[in-house]
Amino acid sequence: MDALAITPGIPWSVHHRRLAAPRMDAVADGRGVRVRVLRAGLCGTDAEVASGAFGHGPPGDDFLVIGHEHLGEIVEVGPGVDDPALQPGRLVVASNRRPGRSAWDRVGLQDFTADDDTLERGIRGLHGFLVEEYVDDPAFLTPVPDLLAETGVLMEPMSVIEKGLAQVAAVQRRLHIWEPAHAIVVGAGTIGLLAVLALRLRGLSVTCWSRRPAPHRNAALVTAAGARYVSAAETDLPGLVAAEGRADLVVEASGAAELVYPSALALAPNGVLLLTSVTAAARVVPVDLAAWNQAFVLWNRAMVGTVNAARVDFAAAVGTLARAEAELPGWAAGLITHRIPGLDPDAVRDRLRERGDAIKAVVEVGPRGSAAR
Ligand SMILES: NC(=O)c1ccc[n+]([C@@H]2O[C@H](COP(=O)([O-])OP(=O)(O)OC[C@H]3O[C@@H](n4cnc5c(N)ncnc54)[C@H](OP(=O)(O)O)[C@@H]3O)[C@@H](O)[C@H]2O)c1
Repeated sequence: MDALAITPGIPWSVHHRRLAAPRMDAVADGRGVRVRVLRAGLCGTDAEVASGAFGHGPPGDDFLVIGHEHLGEIVEVGPGVDDPALQPGRLVVASNRRPGRSAWDRVGLQDFTADDDTLERGIRGLHGFLVEEYVDDPAFLTPVPDLLAETGVLMEPMSVIEKGLAQVAAVQRRLHIWEPAHAIVVGAGTIGLLAVLALRLRGLSVTCWSRRPAPHRNAALVTAAGARYVSAAETDLPGLVAAEGRADLVVEASGAAELVYPSALALAPNGVLLLTSVTAAARVVPVDLAAWNQAFVLWNRAMVGTVNAARVDFAAAVGTLARAEAELPGWAAGLITHRIPGLDPDAVRDRLRERGDAIKAVVEVGPRGSAAR
């Protein structure tokens, strides 16, 4: 079968690989589920892996099959699989992070791992989803309704937001009463837009503050979700707060480290800052730490990050994307701006290198119901 891989450490080495079909007995006790990949999403992490910044394959392999966002169709189920939702023909998504050694990994919370060598499909130590087929354990599979045949490929990034909002809810149980009314989302990329969606579906008033002045596709999606778009070119974050008040929840999703500080200061008393950005490069930003500290201590603000997601968060993501189809039909599909037909290494490399105006680019790996070669 065909796959797209990189040679770890070699920049932009995306290439085609011919691999043996995965074996059902790769999962013990007849619990293997064979999944045909229909579509895989590309994101900034894939670009960093393809650039050679990080990423490595399983022990003994000098290549890594890339891709950690996808939607698949079950084609075969082992005799030890007793979940009636996992049947041939059903759509499914596998999570990418796998359990390691820490206490959290051992109780199924690998997204809270304390290990420093986390296993992540398509990123670290495990092959990813830019491949025709994979075999996996039901413990890592989330069934996806046919309603989401188009947008199910957004499940992985959506699950990051769902995990974040679950963390926010857990933190805010400290207050006994918390009825958030207003949220600010910083950044209008894929993650920011999915945060806008999740918060609007929860009934909050949402302002999305991001770099480029409207009109553009991202701003149009913000307003189509019933939120307000404000450009940094017109108003800075303190100016936004002065104009419309502080927010009960701020979701930082810009990838810009310098925005973390003003995002925290945009919080209302008892508010929460949800951090999503993976800010890889070293960046020194001078801030008034005394003011920052006081803002958190005297006004009981809180800050929490979100990374990857457990199966429960994937299940929540299914719920949110399904509700989006009911309340904002077609909105989530609007995030898929570019489609690459087939496992084309040049097209994937070019898209990862030069993202252009893509919100979410997807690789159409194979049609539903097709036979794997
Ligand atoms: N925690 C996780 O598990 C997880 C998962 C996926 C992604 N992430 C992280 O989440 C962040 C967002 O991801 P994404 O895929 O949505 O990224 P993205 O598509 O690059 O979106 C970033 C958005 O922030 C805006 N922005 C960037 N710098 C800005 C600035 N200085 N001022 C105002 N707006 C600014 C951009 O505006 P323009 O478009 O106008 O430039 C863009 O709309 C990234 O750091 C990514 O690494 C985390």
